[in-house]
Amino acid sequence: MAAGTVTVADPPKTHSLQKLRSAASACRACPLWRTGTQTVFGEGGAHSPLLVVGEQPGDREDIEGHPFVGPAGRLLDRALEATGVPRDEVYITNAVKHFKWEPRGKRRLHKTPAQREIEACLPWLEAELAAVEPRVILCMGATAARAVMGGKVRVTETRGQPLTSPLGKEVVITIHPAYILRLRTGVEEAFAQFVSDVGKAARLAGF
Ligand code: URA
Repeated sequence: MAAGTVTVADPPKTHSLQKLRSAASACRACPLWRTGTQTVFGEGGAHSPLLVVGEQPGDREDIEGHPFVGPAGRLLDRALEATGVPRDEVYITNAVKHFKWEPRGKRRLHKTPAQREIEACLPWLEAELAAVEPRVILCMGATAARAVMGGKVRVTETRGQPLTSPLGKEVVITIHPAYILRLRTGVEEAFAQFVSDVGKAARLAGF
């Protein structure tokens, strides 16, 4: 495939998360595989009633190969703990499964994925949904909401309300935990509201 070419992922027709993970590790549907260390597939409760979607793996996730293991993940852990939901009973994934970044000195700075990259990766998320069959999807941030709702969504206007996705699932949208990490003021309030949204999704899912 020529550099920069974007196609759409073509997962195998299976509900085995192990087979899907293995196939996704060789995905070349968009060019992000060239600069990402590895595909970071979802993980957690294989038949969880709650499936959490983030944007894309960050720097730590890209290195370790697991979703939400960096600073944003620690905040998600705290929110799950506050709502009494064990992390390993939730399925956690991302809309885009490679880390998109640009160099800044020695650092790798996060870049927001483009719509075509979200679309290229969507079949993996659909395959995870078909395998896990959650009752509720919790979308964290605009990229996750866009992937799951099939178009642009205003997170601040829709957060915390039960919605229905064209993918046929109940959805709760909230902010991305990385947003809280960037705040200089109002951190406690923002975290409390995040916990409240996570709690709504968890209760809808039956936790
Ligand atoms: N941010 C995300 O959206 N996903 C991760 O896995 C980590 C940080």
